[in-house]
Amino acid sequence: MSSEAVLFSKLVSEDFRDVAVDAARRAGAFLRSRFGSRPAVSYKDSPTNLVTEMDRGAEAIIVEAIRARFPDHAILAEESGALPGAPAHRWIVDPLDGTTNYAHGFPIYGVSIGLEVDGALAVGVVYDPSREECFVAERGRGATLNGAPVRVSPTPRMAESLLGTSYPNDIRAAPRDNLAEHRALMFRCRSVRSIGSAVLGLAAVAVGRLDGYWEQRLGAWDVAAGALLIEEAGGRVTSVHGGPLDLSAPSITASNGHIQSEIIEALKEVASPR
Ligand code: IPD
Ligand code: CA
Ligand code: CA
Repeated sequence: MSSEAVLFSKLVSEDFRDVAVDAARRAGAFLRSRFGSRPAVSYKDSPTNLVTEMDRGAEAIIVEAIRARFPDHAILAEESGALPGAPAHRWIVDPLDGTTNYAHGFPIYGVSIGLEVDGALAVGVVYDPSREECFVAERGRGATLNGAPVRVSPTPRMAESLLGTSYPNDIRAAPRDNLAEHRALMFRCRSVRSIGSAVLGLAAVAVGRLDGYWEQRLGAWDVAAGALLIEEAGGRVTSVHGGPLDLSAPSITASNGHIQSEIIEALKEVASPR
């Protein structure tokens, strides 16, 4: 590539990043401003799968911000589904991750925005409104937290690790409820945390606060930004079986890399349908 082409691609990618950061911060400020007001809850497919007007409000802010700058890009947003656009650029949006926490006034929730370019994740932004933390990754350019470079933890073995997980929103009907896996891994690491936000759990792995994270069944919007954050922070991301992450039906095992195969092996041993 010529130096002009390199400069052009850098400028374009910085533009993508800036739009994602600005949209995540704006949606996060909106969520934070109404936090604690107990929004009216409605249900998606089960009594444990909640949605509120705040999910929709935050999503509208993000979609509008992306559309204003990139009107021809495709968007996959959790509450609106697939919005039309040229598929070379696809934004993947979870406007409020941790809706159950948010609805109960439990301050662990986040905003997640990923961008795929030609089918590969190129930008990932996770914003935590409660702690005013903005996690940003760009393919090939590393990961940052509020502008400072971050790395995954150096923890060498699962026995010395702190892990994260969570449960499917439709747990009462889910084919795999993750409880056997949680129990089994609990005895092989220092402890397992279930914080109720996959997006913040993955960001925690990227900055070394957790050594690993797994979940059985998620949406593309739960994992797109977090997966890139972890890879750019030096970690590893696969499906729970150890194959490539599949954004069309993601399960996820993510870690600092050192303990990735130990987590996958332990999950395989349990792998019992309920
Ligand atoms: C949920 C959270 C939760 C995870 C669920 C997700 P939502 O996202 O990330 O931690 O266990 O599987 O669906 O519905 O709050 O955006
Ligand atoms: Ca989510
Ligand atoms: Ca959500």
